[in-house]
Amino acid sequence: MGARRRVVSSETSDTQNLKTEEKSTKSANSREEEEFKLAPPKLSQIFAILAIFAIPYSYLFFVHYKIEEELRRSILINAVLSFAGFFVTLFMIPVASRYVLRRNLFGYDINKKGTAQGSIKVPESLGIVVGIIFLVLAILFQYFNFTADSNWLVEYNAALASICFMILLGFVDDVLDIPWRVKLLLPSFAALPLLMAYAGHTTIVIPKPLIPYVGLEVLDLGWIYKLYMGMLAVFCTNSINIHAGINGLEVGQTIVIACAILIHNVMQIGASTDPEYKQAHAFSIYLVQPLLATSLALLSYNWYPSSVFVGDTYTYFAGMTMAVVGILGHFSETLLIFFAPQVLNFLLSLPQLSGYVHCPRHRLPRFNPQTGLLTGTNDGTLVNLSLRVLGRMSEKSLCIFLLAFQVIKSLLIKLHLQ
Ligand code: UD1
Ligand code: MG
Repeated sequence: MGARRRVVSSETSDTQNLKTEEKSTKSANSREEEEFKLAPPKLSQIFAILAIFAIPYSYLFFVHYKIEEELRRSILINAVLSFAGFFVTLFMIPVASRYVLRRNLFGYDINKKGTAQGSIKVPESLGIVVGIIFLVLAILFQYFNFTADSNWLVEYNAALASICFMILLGFVDDVLDIPWRVKLLLPSFAALPLLMAYAGHTTIVIPKPLIPYVGLEVLDLGWIYKLYMGMLAVFCTNSINIHAGINGLEVGQTIVIACAILIHNVMQIGASTDPEYKQAHAFSIYLVQPLLATSLALLSYNWYPSSVFVGDTYTYFAGMTMAVVGILGHFSETLLIFFAPQVLNFLLSLPQLSGYVHCPRHRLPRFNPQTGLLTGTNDGTLVNLSLRVLGRMSEKSLCIFLLAFQVIKSLLIKLHLQ
């Protein structure tokens, strides 16, 4: 009996201990929450980027090309919606950051290891905010598109289903940390809604310098085209995700590519007289303007030094959106030109991705907390190669260099191929 009483009393004290522990963790958490305050968004840098892009874009749109009234109105309404989306994203990121931290979704900034900043919990997966606001904008916009026939709605909604599926799988990956080789395949599932609904043409335009070798200007791929579309989705998503790990790089590269796509679309609309061709490029604008606006808001928090991380939710969402517009806009070859640095990074990564050379969890440069500089390692990435060729650099300078490289490389190749 005495023994039993002892057991009961030790059980009671255990429960009491647990309760006190629970209470103290709760109060520690709420203290952390109270203390948690996101650094203000870096808006001056964002408005500078916006101005650099908006000036040539507006010139082409309003002055250089005569774009018909109806199309112009739809594009402008979409731009206004996107602008509103920018502010909503800006407002929602700090709110969502508190929630993701509460659920232990955070990462440590690896390129600051050994400094005070390296021990701060940085909220992870904020791509979920961008993805949701993007979807709301894209769905609302259907109400304002004034195209006479509604056939486009089928493909437009299939595209949104693919993007939505990708956001879900990206978020699942952030939460569950899916093994690397399984992760590579997620976009092929997400692309299915679009592949099944796609009824457009199945030809690709051969770039001019390659015509003498292929012997054709246009190549009809038949059913292989759908396979090609699926592979494009897998490539675009993963190639953005593996060109990463430096503050601002994931979102920065998306913004550069989105700007390039928009300028390409306006030029194609302006130069063409074929209404179907114009519509295809207009649809691409309808999806890329909201992508650009919401990504700019995310960059204001993710630019060096990052106060939030974007997560695979964002890299997969952004890659899938760009793949989808390349497919529906029928300019996937040009899209690959804009992805030139990602293609290079992918080729450099092949030995490690294929398992021929060991692939660690993070293939990042080495950080020296004394000097604050990064040194390239032997892991096969464009980030490491740049550091090996150019010498040690700060994280911010490296990101600016890689983004400038993205601009110059895609511009040069595009001019060369035209
Ligand atoms: C991919 C890369 C991996 C790279 C990682 C960085 C491959 C095969 N995988 O993996 O090499 O290290 O992206 O995103 O190439 N982080 C930073 N600073 C940043 C961004 C991220 O330190 O500016 C760290 C944080 O700890 C963050 C984590 O990277 O929590 C996110 O990594 P995750 O996106 O899960 O890596 P993967 O996409 O699997
Ligand atoms: Mg990632």
